[in-house]
Formats: sequence, structure tokens, C-alpha cells
Amino acid sequence: MTSELVRDEEQDTLLRVEDLAMRFPIRGRGLFARTSGYVHAVNNVSLSVRPGEVLGLVGESGCGKTTLGRCIVRSIQPTEGHLYYREEDGGVVDLAPMTNRELRPYQQKIRVIFQDPFSSLNPRMTILQIVGDPLRASGIARGSELEDRVATILRKVGLSPGHMHRYPHAFSGGERQRVNIARALIAEPRLVIADEAVSALDVSVRAQILNLLRELQEEFDLTYLFISHDMSVVESLCNRVAVMYLGKIVELAETEQLYRDPQHPYTEALLSAVPRPDPRLRGSGRRIRLSDNFPDPADPPSGCFFHTRCRYADEDRCVRERPELRAVDGEHLSACHHAERLTLTSSFGHTT
Ligand SMILES: Nc1ncnc2c1ncn2[C@@H]1O[C@H](COP(=O)(O)OP(=O)(O)O)[C@@H](O)[C@H]1O
Ligand code: SF4
Ligand SMILES: [Mg+2]
Repeated sequence: MTSELVRDEEQDTLLRVEDLAMRFPIRGRGLFARTSGYVHAVNNVSLSVRPGEVLGLVGESGCGKTTLGRCIVRSIQPTEGHLYYREEDGGVVDLAPMTNRELRPYQQKIRVIFQDPFSSLNPRMTILQIVGDPLRASGIARGSELEDRVATILRKVGLSPGHMHRYPHAFSGGERQRVNIARALIAEPRLVIADEAVSALDVSVRAQILNLLRELQEEFDLTYLFISHDMSVVESLCNRVAVMYLGKIVELAETEQLYRDPQHPYTEALLSAVPRPDPRLRGSGRRIRLSDNFPDPADPPSGCFFHTRCRYADEDRCVRERPELRAVDGEHLSACHHAERLTLTSSFGHTT
């Protein structure tokens, strides 16, 4: 698809990821070692992010979520594919092939909030330096104007501006994550990628940070790509959800639809593993045990990538033919040959 088509057909798209692939070379040991293969971390992913939505990206650890996020913010360059980004004036640019210099005008528009509030802040920098860095680096503000803007954003994330001369060690995990959020938002991005942004936090702090993310989204008209391995957190925050397995999107739908009526066996298994505190819900779904043998992304299985762990796999199509992500019910997409034939279960959305 050319950027021309994106412009015409998808006016409601902020970012269109098209056929994106990321392969990391595996090198042998030694100074002049040859590349012995590739880790297929992201395999031909296509998806659209709509302005103002929270799009969830879920899947087990190692399935390629972070790598996809890093390609989108262009901290790494994808091996193949396109990242069509719609600018404020409606024009569309492809970020994928851009050099660092060409990327500069877009760097503040797409920002990331990382998982670990402890290792992601430089211990030798003050909060003012950390949070103000994107403004200074891009020449947007300096001196007292920069301090004013840092003070404003600190207030927005629930921190006291009086603490801006302190160092990260003086803050708790939840406060550090607020610092991370302030740094991501200070230069007024349009798309924020939150990569496991609440996964390292205690349950009570997690709820506060999720609320903060919701409030900030409303106030600043933000769009989120919310990456998480936690199905319950994703359900509570996201409008739509994409499920990833071995570098591919295997299901994509409105959150309510995906949780109530999954159309891919992998999603069914992920949902069945979610602990439900309500005893009325506990009995209604069987726990589907996924075997631990996650396939090697350097040597993915034939046919459907999930066939080695899927309880519905057949010897014929599933083993031989790679399923495409396709519409099975309106805008509900699934990459399972047998989606229409299977009756998958979920304990979500059947009571109340
Ligand atoms: N820089 C890298 N070099 C080589 N392999 C990598 C690199 N980054 C990630 N990978 C591999 O890519 C796969 C996907 O990793 P990742 O994107 O971190 O998954 P997730 O965020 O879903 O846990 C994993 O097999 C991981 O080991
Ligand atoms: S295509 Fe076959 S192996 Fe893949 S998810 Fe569907 S039933 Fe399972
Ligand atoms: Mg990750």
C-alpha cells in the first residue's frame, strides 16, 4: 500500500504499520564470526492505530511486543515494511526508511514509557534534567522557560515541582514511573507507547498509575499503544486489542468482543489463564494449559506458528499452510484457519 492510499482510505488512522518485519542477526563467537541465522522477532505485522484510542498489544514474554514498539519509535530500524505516520496537517510520511536526521522532527511526536521505573532513570541526573531533556535536546525550551514547563508537567503527573532538583533515588517506584510519564509527555507527543508501564508496580500503585494514564489521555488528547502481558490490565484500559504470537498478530478486535468471543485458540488460552477473583466466574471457563515449549523465533514452525501448542491443530492445513490475518466477523480479525468452525470459550463478559 502506498502512502497515497493511506491518505485516501484511512483518514481515521494516526499510524499505519504495514508488513513490518524485524530480524536480529545471530552471530557466532569470535571477532570475525559469521551470522549463523536470524531471530524473527517481528514477522510481517500490519495494523492501524486510530487517533484517540488505546490499542492494547498482548502476548507472552518473547513474542515480539517490545521489538515492535522499538520499531515504531524508531529506536531501531525495521528490516522490512512501512510505518505510515499521519502528520497534524493530514500529510502521511513513512518513518521506516528515515535516517536519524530525517527522524528528528518526529522524535517528540511518538514517545515511549518503559517498564522498569528503577533502571530507566539515570541516577546522576536530577528530575529537572531527566524530564526536561526532550525539550533541551530538541531545542524547544531552555533556562527558566524549561523549568516552568517541567514544573507544569510534574504537577500534571501528581508530583511536587519543588522536588525537581532531587535525584531518582529519593523517589518510590510509583513516583519514578510518574517521572517517566512526565518525560514522555513534556514535548506534547501524539502517540505514546507504554511498554509494560505498570507491570513492575505493586497492585495499589498500579491502579493509581493506570488512572493517571487515563486522565492524561483525556487532557492531552493522546493515543496509546499499550503493551502488556497482563490480560486484565489490558481489558481495563484498552479500546481495541491486538494479540501477538511469535512476532505475528494472530487476533485483533474491539476489547469487549475479543474478551467475550475470542476467535483464536491462542487468545482463548491466554484468557483462560487470567485469575478471576469473582467465584461465580471462576468455574465457568476451563484453564487451558499451554505447554512451556515456546517455539524458537530463530526457527519458527511450519504452517500456523501456533500449531505446536494448539489443541485444535490438524495435521493438514495447520501444519502446512500459514494462516493470514483476516476478518471473521465484521472488524474482528483472526489468523486461524478454523476460526469459524471452532467454538472457543471465555469466562469474560458472560455474567452481569
Ligand atoms: N537486540 C536483540 N538481539 C537479538 N534478539 C533480540 C533482540 N531484542 C529482542 N530479541 C529477541 O526477539 C524476540 C522478541 O523479544 P521482545 O520483543 O523483547 O518480546 P516481548 O517484549 O514480547 O517479551 C525474543 O526472542 C528476543 O530474545
Ligand atoms: S490455524 Fe490450526 S494450529 Fe493455528 S490456531 Fe488455528 S486451529 Fe490452531
Ligand atoms: Mg517486552
